Amino acid sequence: MSMTFSGQVALVTGAAAGIGRATALAFAEQGLKVVVADLDSEGGEGTVELIRAAGGDAVFVRCNVTKETEVRQLMEQAVSTYGRVDYAFNNAGIEIEKGRLAEGSEAEFDAIMGVNVKGVWLCMKYQLPLMLVQGGGAIVNTASVAGLGAAPKMSIYSASKHAVIGLTKSAAIEYAKKKIRVNAVCPAVIDTDMYRRAYEADPKKAEYVAVMHPVGRVGTVEEIASAVLYLCSDGAAFTTGHALAVDGGVTAI
Ligand SMILES: NC(=O)c1ccc[n+]([C@@H]2O[C@H](COP(=O)([O-])OP(=O)(O)OC[C@H]3O[C@@H](n4cnc5c(N)ncnc54)[C@H](O)[C@@H]3O)[C@@H](O)[C@H]2O)c1
Repeated sequence: MSMTFSGQVALVTGAAAGIGRATALAFAEQGLKVVVADLDSEGGEGTVELIRAAGGDAVFVRCNVTKETEVRQLMEQAVSTYGRVDYAFNNAGIEIEKGRLAEGSEAEFDAIMGVNVKGVWLCMKYQLPLMLVQGGGAIVNTASVAGLGAAPKMSIYSASKHAVIGLTKSAAIEYAKKKIRVNAVCPAVIDTDMYRRAYEADPKKAEYVAVMHPVGRVGTVEEIASAVLYLCSDGAAFTTGHALAVDGGVTAI
C-alpha cells in the first residue's frame, strides 16, 4: 500500500479484533502512532503487542464507547500520550439479532443502537472539537452494506448502520470548510469473529453467503483496512460525506 499521510496519530475503536485490529496494524505500518481502543483489554493489549513487535508505536486505552465519560477520557488520554489525533476510525460495533423484526427485544434494540449509533456519535462529539483546534483531521465510521439497503433478520443492525451514514454525512457538511473530512466505510461480509459467530456453525449458510458476493467470496479485514487508510490519506483530500461500499460487488446487483 503506498499512501501519504500529513498526520501522525490515528485512533481506532473496536481495535482488539477483526477489522479494527487490521486497520490499527495498517496505520502503524504507515508509520503512524496508534491509539488502540476497545472494551476488551486482552485483545487490545494484543493489538498493541503486534504493532510494537513490528517496530511501531501504539498505546491501549480501555473504553466502552457507549459511555460518555469513557469516550471523553479516551480522547484525553490520546492527547496526553501523543499530543493529537489526526485520524479516527470509529469502528466498534455489535450484531446480536437472531430473528425477524417482530421477534426482537427492547434489550437487543438498546444494545445495538447503543454501541453502533451512540458510540459513533459520542466518539465524533469529542473528536471533532479536537480536530477543529488542531486545524483539521479525518474521520471514518464503520457502517455496512446493511446501512445502504435491507438486511433481513438484522433490522435493528441495518437501522443502526443507516444511522451511522446519517451521522457521517451530517458531520461532513458541518465541518467541510474546517478541513475535517468525515466518511463511512460499508463492508459486506468480512471474515472476522463477528462473521464466524453468524455463519460458521452452518456450512451451507457460509457457502450461500460467499456466493451472494459477485466476486464469489467474503472479504478480508485487510481489504477494509486498505479502504479506511485511503479515506484518511492525503489522496482522498476531496472526498467527504461519502459512504464507500467495499463489498465484492454486492450493492451493484
Ligand atoms: N464482519 C463483518 O462481516 C462486518 C460487515 C459489515 C460491517 N461490520 C462492522 O465492522 C465493525 C467491526 O466488526 P468486526 O467484524 O471486526 O467485529 P469483531 O466482533 O471482530 O470486533 C468488534 C470489536 O468491537 C469491540 N466492541 C464491542 N462493543 C464495544 C464497546 N461498547 N466499546 C468498545 N469496543 C467495543 C469488541 O470488543 C471487538 O473487539 C463493526 O462496526 C461491524 O458492525 C462488520
